[in-house]
Amino acid sequence: MKLPSPPKALRRSPPRPGQDNGRNGRNGRNGGPATKPTAKDQAVEGVAGVVGWLDERTGGSPFLRGFLYRKTPKGTNWYYTLGSATMFAFLSQAVTGVFLAMYYEPDPTRAYESASRITNEVFLGEFVRGMHRWGSTVMIILIFLHMGRTFFFGAYKYPRELNWIIGVVLVVLTLMMGLTGYLLPFDQRSFWATIVAVNLNSSGPVVGPYLADFLRVGSEFGPTTISRFYALHMLAVPGLIAALIGAHLYLVAKLGTTAPPWIKAKPDAQLAEDEV
Ligand code: HEM
Repeated sequence: MKLPSPPKALRRSPPRPGQDNGRNGRNGRNGGPATKPTAKDQAVEGVAGVVGWLDERTGGSPFLRGFLYRKTPKGTNWYYTLGSATMFAFLSQAVTGVFLAMYYEPDPTRAYESASRITNEVFLGEFVRGMHRWGSTVMIILIFLHMGRTFFFGAYKYPRELNWIIGVVLVVLTLMMGLTGYLLPFDQRSFWATIVAVNLNSSGPVVGPYLADFLRVGSEFGPTTISRFYALHMLAVPGLIAALIGAHLYLVAKLGTTAPPWIKAKPDAQLAEDEV
């Protein structure tokens, strides 16, 4: 398979007439002094040097080029950025979450106080907590918009059914992040709202009561409920989401994206003509 060529910035620039950039021992026109490289040339050479160094040691460039530089169908538009936007929202949640975890204490006697301390005392704490809180809403809106785009463009059909199924699991896990995170500030609203949500869960068929017991760590809310929610919120669920995003993107790269439904496929005869 022919790999697409790397972007222009990473290609070595051809020597200008009469100049060989010192590659053959001579520097400038007729072996004279070299023209001084600009700061931009030096920056490009520097980046290309680092990329080359890494590539020589990892052999990663064919994989990255195959993965990143792919042909997209005619008619690809802004709606196709919703998946990447969802991924960006997830990454932002992960980064802000790491900073919040540095100060948050998942203990029923300390949780509310530690969350208030983040808002009122920690440097930029209110900003980071706000980003995390608003980011969760943004991620949920984006994931549903992305799901709508793939549905209305018919991208769930053969051969992309598995990617759709992975997507459905990602929606459930994203909603789980919302549920498990809501308890953590441990104020009156978050406490009672979580009790309602878990009671709703327990009324679900077959697995409902078991799921509710699992979340509460027993039949009632207790001192360890908050640690259970915290472990799910910051380890288990995001870990699963990250792994599934990896599988999702692998399939997007392997199968390519679907053309918008209003783009008509070329008739076979015309395809054959184009190939000549
Ligand atoms: C964390 C959540 C998700 C992330 C980060 C994500 C990311 C992406 C990205 C980057 C793409 C390629 C660009 C694009 O089409 O937007 C894509 C494609 C796709 N996604 Fe998602 N996605 C997520 C959730 C979902 C959900 C919830 C569904 C559906 C239930 C879904 C179904 C699909 C399908 C079928 C494609 C292929 C699109 C096509 O062939 O045109 N994804 N996803």
